[in-house]
Amino acid sequence: MKLLIVNGPNLNMLGIREKHIYGDRDYDALCRAIRQWADELGCEADIYQSNHEGDIVDRIQRAYSDGTDGIVINPAAYTHTSVAILDALKAVQLPAVEVHISDVTQREDFRQVSYAGMACVAHYIGLGFEGYHRAMEYLVNH
Ligand code: DQA
Repeated sequence: MKLLIVNGPNLNMLGIREKHIYGDRDYDALCRAIRQWADELGCEADIYQSNHEGDIVDRIQRAYSDGTDGIVINPAAYTHTSVAILDALKAVQLPAVEVHISDVTQREDFRQVSYAGMACVAHYIGLGFEGYHRAMEYLVNH
């Protein structure tokens, strides 16, 4: 099984940005953890990060024909604005799971809408890096 892990803007700044919200572990640590969970779950994980909405749409579209079985996505700020990412997830018709490191439900009003989440079959919110683990487990087991 092949999973695509998509991370949106500013997640490459983990460990630097707003540590009181996102913690002090950096993006490399997240990627290492994802690779280790993939080994344990016996799946492949292709990890992708971009700060650009169109590039994220392109990468999701590519998943339609590159053998991807499921998508774990943390669209970051684009969660709350991007109909294009929602449409891309719907277009490829692959099971997708939404992850947020912080508990967006307890944050600002503008974070209360999730467009991408409307195309997702499960949501792990506010669990830190562990949310990615749970999302991967969900896709492997369903
Ligand atoms: C985030 C939450 C978003 O609201 C925010 O814009 C991010 C990160 C999270 O993982 O908690 O960049 O997706």
